[in-house]
Amino acid sequence: MSAPRVTFEVLTLFPAAVRAFASAGLLGRALERGHVAIETTDYRDFTEDRHRTVDDAPFGGGAGMVIKPEPVVAAIEHVTAARGPMHRILLTPSAPRFDQRVAERLAKLPRIALLCGRYEGIDDRVREHFVDECLSIGDFVLGGGEVAALTVIEAVSRLVEGVVGNPESVSDDSFAGGSALLEFPQYTRPAVFRGHAVPEVLQAGDHAAIAAWRLRASLARTWALRPELRPHAPWPDDVALYLAVPHAPGDDAEAWRDAIAKHRLEGVVVIGGQPESAVAWTKALGGRVAVAAFPDLRALRRRFRARGGEPWLVAISSGEADVGPGVADAATGAAELLDRLRTCAGGQRSAAVLLPPGALAALGAAAPDAAFAPDRAAQHVLALAPGAAIVDPSPPAGPAQWVERAIAALRGA
Ligand SMILES: C[S@@+](CC[C@H](N)C(=O)[O-])C[C@H]1O[C@@H](n2cnc3c(N)ncnc32)[C@H](O)[C@@H]1O
Repeated sequence: MSAPRVTFEVLTLFPAAVRAFASAGLLGRALERGHVAIETTDYRDFTEDRHRTVDDAPFGGGAGMVIKPEPVVAAIEHVTAARGPMHRILLTPSAPRFDQRVAERLAKLPRIALLCGRYEGIDDRVREHFVDECLSIGDFVLGGGEVAALTVIEAVSRLVEGVVGNPESVSDDSFAGGSALLEFPQYTRPAVFRGHAVPEVLQAGDHAAIAAWRLRASLARTWALRPELRPHAPWPDDVALYLAVPHAPGDDAEAWRDAIAKHRLEGVVVIGGQPESAVAWTKALGGRVAVAAFPDLRALRRRFRARGGEPWLVAISSGEADVGPGVADAATGAAELLDRLRTCAGGQRSAAVLLPPGALAALGAAAPDAAFAPDRAAQHVLALAPGAAIVDPSPPAGPAQWVERAIAALRGA
């Protein structure tokens, strides 16, 4: 068996826990086959008193105990002398975030030490003088560094040659190879489960169409669920944009038509209108744009899902538009809007929601939840619809500005 490509040296108070987890699944197999190796070292083996004490009270007072520097540094020096130098990483919540880019960088190193803390952490002189970098696995606090070390080990090991049988499963993963995209949806048999069908395109065997669908779905998911990644997720020209329009076209039908043409929108949807709404809009738009009416957003989502589509919904709510009657002044309107936003946010949809002036305040005032303070209404709405962008369009604007603003909001501009 050739030498492992990466060796992880885990320094911890709980070596058995680390070894037990590492022996399972893909990682366990990688260890057996020698693609990676894991060594564990117990700080307690480097204590000098009868009780094998590793912790002491913090200087300056305060709750909890701190791991002493002596056993930690003695353990590092022992491992280095026994098995060779290593890149030393201290796991702590107060550090730069570990992510796929860091995993890719670490996967090129032959030996990595992962120092796990417990209690209030390790004496800070270890961070200051005895490690190469510090990493956090997220903005939360675990009881100890073992789960964080195993997180790093799993993520790095997947990138080591030979660990994952089919290298394509790694290159398709979320964030793979420098990408900022979340992975596309994956399905397996049965093709229909409890009435929910797998998108047809995935079953038809057209590989180019499948690749295009997957790219769009990745983009849609990334835009909807991780707005902060939008600048890194390029928006291809062919992503379908639909516009939710008021129930009835008014005198400004021509302006709507121009705005829709200018932005090459795929079609318009009327939500909650009468069937005649679709007919009226088809006429008003000169039959050149697809028009569909849906009783509610759920119906709209069902239609897009069934098509295996990845549409982007721009929900424009101006006055008596698709939001529903009375949103600016009645509790029922606010509740309905909240419900629609929830529905909208439930999938991979991204919505730019334009609210009529004053609607945010009305929404806050009318919401049954006391924590839903009027002045924080915008944040609450965004929390419900993570992909949404809220634009309060005051003063009122015509169709051209509505569409312009919705698209800018959707793109995070
Ligand atoms: C209870 S935590 C100490 C938290 C520390 N007092 C603080 O507020 O930052 C104990 C140990 O768990 C590990 N740990 C906890 N959360 C972590 C995270 N988000 N990332 C990496 N390590 C973490 C660290 O090794 C840490 O020394």
